Amino acid sequence: MSITAEDAVRYDVRDDVAILTIDFPPVNALGAPMREGMVQRLRQAEADAAVRAIVVIGANDRFVAGADIREFGKAKKGPELVEIQTMMEESRKPVVCAIDGHALGGGLELALAAPFRVAASRAKIGLPEVNLGLLPGGGGSQRLTRIVGPEVALDLILEGKHISAAKGKELGLIDEVTDGPVIDTAIAFARAKAQHGGPFPKTIERTDKVAGTDPSIFKTTREANAKKWQGMVAPFKIVDCIEAACTLAPREGLAFEKEAFQVCLQAPSRAAQVHLFFAERQAAKIEGLSASVEPKPIRKVGIIGAGTMGGGIAMSCVNAGLPVVLLEAAPDALDAGMAKVKSNYEISVKRGSRSQAQVDKALGLITTTLDYTDLADCDLVIEAVFENMAIKKEIFAKLDEVCKPGAILATNTSALDIDEIASATKRPEDVIGTHFFSPANVMKLLENVRGTKSSPETIATVMAFGKQVGKVPVLAGNCEGFIGNRMLRAYGTEAEHLLEEGATPSSIDKALKDFGFPMGIFLMRDMSGLDVGYRMRQGRIEAGTLDPNAPDYTPLADRIVEAGRLGQKSGAGYYKYEGRDATPDPEVESMLKTIAKKKGITRREIGEEEIVNRILGAMVNEGAKILDERVAQRASDIDVTYAFGYGFPKYRGGPMFWAQQKGLDKLLEIIRANHARYGDRWKPAKLIEERVASRTDWNGATIEAA
Ligand code: 3HC
Repeated sequence: MSITAEDAVRYDVRDDVAILTIDFPPVNALGAPMREGMVQRLRQAEADAAVRAIVVIGANDRFVAGADIREFGKAKKGPELVEIQTMMEESRKPVVCAIDGHALGGGLELALAAPFRVAASRAKIGLPEVNLGLLPGGGGSQRLTRIVGPEVALDLILEGKHISAAKGKELGLIDEVTDGPVIDTAIAFARAKAQHGGPFPKTIERTDKVAGTDPSIFKTTREANAKKWQGMVAPFKIVDCIEAACTLAPREGLAFEKEAFQVCLQAPSRAAQVHLFFAERQAAKIEGLSASVEPKPIRKVGIIGAGTMGGGIAMSCVNAGLPVVLLEAAPDALDAGMAKVKSNYEISVKRGSRSQAQVDKALGLITTTLDYTDLADCDLVIEAVFENMAIKKEIFAKLDEVCKPGAILATNTSALDIDEIASATKRPEDVIGTHFFSPANVMKLLENVRGTKSSPETIATVMAFGKQVGKVPVLAGNCEGFIGNRMLRAYGTEAEHLLEEGATPSSIDKALKDFGFPMGIFLMRDMSGLDVGYRMRQGRIEAGTLDPNAPDYTPLADRIVEAGRLGQKSGAGYYKYEGRDATPDPEVESMLKTIAKKKGITRREIGEEEIVNRILGAMVNEGAKILDERVAQRASDIDVTYAFGYGFPKYRGGPMFWAQQKGLDKLLEIIRANHARYGDRWKPAKLIEERVASRTDWNGATIEAA
């Protein structure tokens, strides 16, 4: 049902104060009906002889979440934000914005154009447009800079920070903060301002914080971040706009910002980041789940294993205020695990990212034990021991005995069969995979893996739990490697073939870094250590699921480990190391030459474009198979997995989005050519062929001809 302008902004009068209530679900974004409603209601209040002051507030304890992101790229209807801002700025009656919940992006920009702002103490404000590949395009870069000065503006806008109302007051963005109902404070404040009389302040005309700015801060900021911002448009434009706020007259500065906003709006990185914004929210939704299924409340979590993963998961839980029982098999292991958790927290306190009081509170929520019966009252138990099926099954059999009925029994595995683990219990419906990424207290992705028998409640509960502990949950099906590692294997295999054909670890890593990954695959492998992968391969060889004599087998990784090169920790791996500094190693080059000779491969120069197309093409081809097999619910879930768990550059939107932007037809040509040349590992995914034949995208929507 479409919302009318009258409903989107309601009008009430309390004595002599008009109250404009923005009610535009779900988040009071600045959609066309809301903008139209604001213009009408401001006109009404201006004309209402009984009204001496105006308060603008959002319904449902939220102010305004910014521009309506769904409108981007579509023909714009209704009045512009600037029309509302001008009305508030020019009003003869004082306008007070009453902020509760969030005032973000265009929402804060709306409020900054009013002469006054009061906020509830729990409110958060910020200009997070950079996360969508945008800059504040409603005057935010100009008005905020004129209030807080360029240094603070650079920090807030480039980082897209949400700050508290108290911090906002300290910076001059908020006039008054209240613990009580913000509407009452706003009305009293507005009345006092009306009593005092105008003219009322216009932020855009302030010069005190921008006069005499040293222009070198802009140059320094651009230079210091050039590498980090590679491929992005918005951060550079943000610096330009903040500089414009310091050097141009108000109206010129606003015009400059408007133009820069349009440049960002048209950039492919904006489309990619907006795609990820919606993809992240979509990923939390479970297809086919009946509306009657409710997640179970999680009030206490048991964690088995105090190693790197277990400790990191425990930190994620207690950081979100959830009590944890941390279990280990031996006192030494428990002490070592807790020592690591404490040292991680000490680092956060030193860095200033957490206060000592916050750390004390978090540590106070961890109880340690060696006794399984202490897990009896946990709502969720996450097993996080090393990847060994026999041990995991033994643990699940014990959990089945001690855990209360209905408790969720989760395994943090990156590859093992969830159904086999569940078979160790008499309650497979309560068993599920929760694959965290290392370091688990930092990495955002939580890949939840449904077993064949996992119940809808169990699935819904771990998805909700992910959000509860600040993660981005994605639901995967049970297959080897699930979504993320299954695609990573395709990616790694192709990188290894490229090495045999003539690329080097450093040429591949450079191509991936230039594409936007924080680090190339071989540097990453060296950092994580090569022995674990080696042992896993040997296990698969022994089990008969991997054939080292197959023509497609790439033996370099084995040769490297067998030469005692375990990665950075042993001073050599794919690279050689002086401390953490990696340099290419002729010894690896010579191993590659030997392997190529044995396989009859003539090594050749391989350019960056081929490296990227081969590696990403292989990944996307596997992604399409994953999608076809329903291991992933939707293509965008794969993008979320890669953007939040594997360092895929967010400004490229994820591998499936990248493929769609490139053109699925073009990608299929590459896949087919590689299939003809390299054989079965490049067999085209049926889904890509179908999509290209029907000229549809991953979601089945028709692709418009260019
Ligand atoms: N426009 C359109 N829809 C939006 C939206 C927006 N700005 N913000 C959120 N939504 C939608 C979400 O897609 C979701 O829809 P769904 O239910 O169909 O999945 C719904 O609102 C609820 O969102 P969340 O699940 O994120 O709700 P939370 O309560 O967890 O978080 C929030 C609320 C903090 C406001 C969060 O939604 C958010 O950060 N929103 C984006 C804020 C933002 O980036 N604003 C800047 C926009 S760009 C801009 O303003 C340009 C300007 O400078 C001109």
